[in-house]
Amino acid sequence: MRIAVTGATGFVGSAVCRAAEARGWQVHPFGRRPGVRHWDITSGPLADPPEVDAVVHAAASVADETESAAMWRTNVDGTRNVADTFPGTRLVHVSTASVYDPFTATVNADESAAPVARYLNAYGESKAAAERLLTYRPNTVVLRPHAVYGPGDTTLLPRLLGAIRGRNLVIVGDGRTRHSLTSIDNLTDAVLLACAPTAKPGTYNVADAEPVVLEEALPEIFAERGLHVRIRHLPVRLAWLLAAVAENTWRPPRLAQLSRYAVSHLGFERTLDITAARRDLGYRPSPTSFTGAREW
Ligand SMILES: NC(=O)c1ccc[n+]([C@@H]2O[C@H](COP(=O)([O-])OP(=O)(O)OC[C@H]3O[C@@H](n4cnc5c(N)ncnc54)[C@H](OP(=O)(O)O)[C@@H]3O)[C@@H](O)[C@H]2O)c1
Repeated sequence: MRIAVTGATGFVGSAVCRAAEARGWQVHPFGRRPGVRHWDITSGPLADPPEVDAVVHAAASVADETESAAMWRTNVDGTRNVADTFPGTRLVHVSTASVYDPFTATVNADESAAPVARYLNAYGESKAAAERLLTYRPNTVVLRPHAVYGPGDTTLLPRLLGAIRGRNLVIVGDGRTRHSLTSIDNLTDAVLLACAPTAKPGTYNVADAEPVVLEEALPEIFAERGLHVRIRHLPVRLAWLLAAVAENTWRPPRLAQLSRYAVSHLGFERTLDITAARRDLGYRPSPTSFTGAREW
């Protein structure tokens, strides 16, 4: 197999490159940093693309803080430029479970429940728009992972560790909320399965074998990292109110991560039905595991 990978310098894209190379595939990595072929996807389609069997689109602007127009340029215009560069070629678009309704819980949701008409931030909105523009593109697989973790994580673990104050971590809700997490190994497996010409085009949730309960999962990560952290709770309604105020007025530095988006992702159940990926892609995910988290 010959594949092109956008976002090859990022957490997901670099893992996809390594997994594909480990299988002996020919990989063309793209990004904006040294070590990969330069392509800023906001600048337009690539003039001289390589001939490939599939393109994995993992480039995106993911930071909550990114200004909306810049995020739109990368996530929507950039996706259009990637699709236009490789017309007809199998496209594996790495989307996100953030396209589900952030105002209500996502309970064992199947793929038909998104995109929706309302979002809490430019990330969810722009990723949903990217999915919509790919709706009628043939030969396209859209993958929706949730909360990707593992070696090289640029988002989840840094945010979690950054939220610890002294030995305390305040989490939204009572901690009993269930979440579908996605290990980077499970996600790369799904991506490589989706590259196969025989894999059925469509949209697929991608998650670990079973959801986990937050209050049980977090201590496992802390134990692996040798951290002694006491978990405290903030009621969802209060957190939502504080976040709404913080978004519209001044946000004290110690509440830097408090947004309604963050509250909706931590405080509400976020579980995904992965039946379609199992059935149509042959996806066989491993259970959630934080073994080795000391090194991440
Ligand atoms: N991490 C998660 O928990 C998670 C969960 C669900 C879905 N996802 C999805 O997974 C995909 C990858 O996310 P990630 O976690 O790997 O993020 P990441 O580590 O921040 O990587 C993002 C990648 O996109 C590239 N990129 C950003 N803007 C670009 C531009 N204008 N032109 C070309 N490349 C650009 C970055 O390149 P530079 O090195 O040049 O900045 C980097 O390689 C995204 O589509 C995201 O929505 C991630």
